[in-house]
Amino acid sequence: MKEVQDFYFKKAKKEGYPARSVYKLEEAQQKYRLLKKGGRVLDLGCHPGSWSLYAAKTVGTQGLVVSLDLQPTKGGGKKGMAPIHWLHGDITDEEMLARVRAFAPAFDAVVSDMAPRTTGNKWADQQQSLALARRSLAVAEQFLVAGGVFYCKVFQGEDVDAFVAEVRARFQTARVVKPKSSRPESREVFVLGMGYGV
Ligand SMILES: C[S@@+](CC[C@H](N)C(=O)[O-])C[C@H]1O[C@@H](n2cnc3c(N)ncnc32)[C@H](O)[C@@H]1O
Repeated sequence: MKEVQDFYFKKAKKEGYPARSVYKLEEAQQKYRLLKKGGRVLDLGCHPGSWSLYAAKTVGTQGLVVSLDLQPTKGGGKKGMAPIHWLHGDITDEEMLARVRAFAPAFDAVVSDMAPRTTGNKWADQQQSLALARRSLAVAEQFLVAGGVFYCKVFQGEDVDAFVAEVRARFQTARVVKPKSSRPESREVFVLGMGYGV
C-alpha cells in the first residue's frame, strides 16, 4: 500500500504538481473527458494548486481557471496553459461569489476537492464534508452553463446517497467515482454530474 502512495507522490513531484491529489482529477479526465479545450473551470478548495494547474494545462491558452481556497495559493503562468486567477477566501461566504463572477459569469466545469479540517469524529467530519459538497453544488448551479460538468469530493456515509440523488436530479448523468489514486482506506469518493440541466 505504502508503495502505491509513494508512487503517486513521486509521480506528482516529477511532473511538477504540488500534491498527489492531481491524479484524482486526471483519472476522471482520462475516463470521462470532463474538461474541454478552451473551457472555463471553477476550482473550489484549490490549495496547493494541483487540480488548477492540471485544468489550466488541459483547457489550454483559450481557457480560463478561477480557483479559490481558505489558504492563499499561487502558481501557473506557464506557456500553453490557461491563466489561473487565485482567490483567497471561504466559499460559504456569499461575497466570494461576486469575486468569482468578476472573472467569468459562467463556467463549463465546477470541480471541488474541498475537505473539512478533520476532527477524528467520523460522523461530524462526514457531515462537514457533505455540507461543503452541497455548497459546491449550489455554487455550480449559479455558474454552470447548460451541459456543464460537476466533479465533487464527499466523504462516504449517511446522506451521501441523497446527495448523489440531488446531483442526478440536476444533471443528465450522475455517478460515484473512486479513483485508483485515492487511498482505498480513505472514505472520500467523487460525485460526477455531466450535462447540467439537459
Ligand atoms: C484536499 S485539499 C485540495 C487539494 C487540491 N485539489 C490540489 O490538488 O492541490 C482541500 C482544500 O479544501 C479547502 N477548503 C476547505 N473548506 C473550504 C472552504 N469553506 N472554502 C474554501 N476552501 C476550503 C482547504 O483549505 C484545502 O486546501
